[in-house]
Amino acid sequence: MKNKIVICRCEEITEQEIIAVIKQGYTSLDEIKRILRCGMGHCQGRSCQMIIARILSRMTKQPIEKIIFPSSRPPLKPIPIKTLAKYKTTGEHK
Ligand code: FES
Repeated sequence: MKNKIVICRCEEITEQEIIAVIKQGYTSLDEIKRILRCGMGHCQGRSCQMIIARILSRMTKQPIEKIIFPSSRPPLKPIPIKTLAKYKTTGEHK
């Protein structure tokens, strides 16, 4: 089946869905992220963000260097909640 290519595996977002929102006029990675939740999964966009940027670049005919990536917020990698809990109670990260 054409265009059933999953781009964001964490949130199961397909290329077709990404193209549809770009055609609706959402032309920034941040907008696409907020609407589809791609980039908000377990990997926090490390797997899909660049692919989505390339799709956006191709469809909007702007160089990939001009695509603005959403700002990253800590934690940059998923960490176990017990690590955060330990940090909060002791004030130290061990
Ligand atoms: S593949 Fe998109 S957030 Fe992980």
